[in-house]
Order: sequence, then C-alpha cells, then structure tokens
Amino acid sequence: MKSILIGLPGNEKLTKELAQVINAELGQAEFRQFPDGENYIQIISDVVNKRVVIVCTLHRPDDKLLPLYFVSKTAKDLGAVCTCLVVPYLAYMRQDKRFQAGEGITSQYFAALVSQFADSMITVDPHLHRRSKLSEIYTTPSQVVHAADHISQWIKENLEKPVLIGPDSESEQWVSKVAQNAQAPFTVLEKIRRGDRDVEISVPKLETYKDHTPVLVDDIISTARTMIETVAHLRKAGMNPPVCIGVHAVFAGDAYKELKDSGVEQVVTCDTIPHPSNKINLCELYKDFLLEKVL
Ligand code: R5P
Repeated sequence: MKSILIGLPGNEKLTKELAQVINAELGQAEFRQFPDGENYIQIISDVVNKRVVIVCTLHRPDDKLLPLYFVSKTAKDLGAVCTCLVVPYLAYMRQDKRFQAGEGITSQYFAALVSQFADSMITVDPHLHRRSKLSEIYTTPSQVVHAADHISQWIKENLEKPVLIGPDSESEQWVSKVAQNAQAPFTVLEKIRRGDRDVEISVPKLETYKDHTPVLVDDIISTARTMIETVAHLRKAGMNPPVCIGVHAVFAGDAYKELKDSGVEQVVTCDTIPHPSNKINLCELYKDFLLEKVL
C-alpha cells in the first residue's frame, strides 16, 4: 500500500524529512481559518487507497486538535485506507490524576478523543509517570520511541567531562539511560511542585564533580522553573555553568529567555517541537515504525 505524508502547519520540516527517509509522497493540503475563526481543511493530493501519515506535534494542543481531527476525517472521507499520526510531542500527559477534588483527568479524556480518529500513532518520550504504558489510556495502537541515545550521542560529541543531573524522580528513567550511553556519572534530585511556576528542588551533592560540566536532562521544559531552580543550586555550590537539555521545547511565555539568562552554558533540545534551541534531530526514530506500519 502506498503512503502519503501530510504535515499540519508548523510541521513542514519534519514532514519533508520523513517523506525522504521513507521514500514516500509528500502530500499537499490547505489549512486556514475562515474570517469567523472556524477551520478550513482541503486535501489537494490524491489519498484514495493510501495510508495517510499525518505529522503534527502537539504543544499548545487546543488549537491543533480540531484541524488534526478534520484532516484525519477528510482523508478517510476521500478514500484513504487509514490515518497514522506522527506526534513528536504528545500533550496532556501530565494531568494524569485528580490532584485536587473536582479536577478532570485530562490525559485520559484527550487520549479517548485522539483514539477515536487515528488508526495508529507514534510519539517521542510521552510523560509517562503514573501510567507505565500509553495503551493504558490510548486505545489506538501506539508506539513510543526514546530520545535517550541521540542525547547521549550529542553529549559525547560536544561536552567534556559531563555529570548528568535529573531534576526529579520521574527523570531517573531517561537520565540513567542517557548517562549510561554517554559513559557519564549521574544523580537524581527531588522536586516538590507547589504550583504551576513554583517548584522546590533538593540541593545536589556534587562536590566531587567540581571540575565536570553539569548537564541537566529533563523530558519537558515548560515554564523552565524546574531547570532554573536547579541551575541556581549548582551555581551556589560553585559548579561550572550547566548545560540544560530537554527533549520537548515547550517553553511557555518567556521561559526560554529566563533559562538562558539564569547562568547556563547553553540550552539544547531535541526537535520534537520546532524551536531555536533544537540541536538534536530525531527524524531517524520514526523510520522503522513508518516503514513497518505504513509502506
Ligand atoms: C515534570 O514532571 C516533568 O518531567 C518536567 O520536570 C516538568 O514538566 C518541567 O516543567 P517546568 O519547566 O514548568 O518546570
């Protein structure tokens, strides 16, 4: 079966790269808004009897979900066999429990919505914390791929004497793997989140690593409070300026500027969300899934 790739606005670079990597057709579609703000979707390419791979990273997801749904429905309506989503950053994974009475468990509701219209999905390091697998909430078949090896490679090629630091217990899963592959020591801190922009991080004990390059690794950088708070501890302890590495460059508001101004050596992210800090290309991670499932 032939495949055709359609990228939502903002995903053009990855869509083009993937089409080249799997040697598939790059589809054409128009996405725009009517003057009243409603979405207009038109698939210009022929999708009859094809698998349609829709590429759409989902930071700031509320504006993207409806176009994603519409393009998936349109493709099926026009005769596509199925739709497969490439979602480098999967949103709504962090509200995975009712922390306060009356709150919605939105990760579950979002998963139910996406599962209604997508036939398969691939994503990079979704925030699996209290859930161990995506299939606990997504009924659509999904594959998770990990950025750890690519991050290790970047560290090996670019940094001298790294010591890796995970800001909280959740980060241990990726920090330990990145450290192992980069042949570097690592430590994991403890975090208490008191509010959206209010986090407390335990003080790292890194006296023996004073001549190392501290490398903070986290999955998501959103308000950057987690990183900024950790950077402050490291600077106070007389460590070298750290390198901050995030998989997903969410960067809410002025977070990127604030992090850069906090005394870091550099801020580096993977390209799951297009951003000036992207230095680690993950295109290769989607290849096997697309070749197996799509072509
Ligand atoms: C949280 O559990 C995640 O792993 C990240 O540490 C968190 O999302 C970072 O958020 P922020 O940048 O807003 O501190």
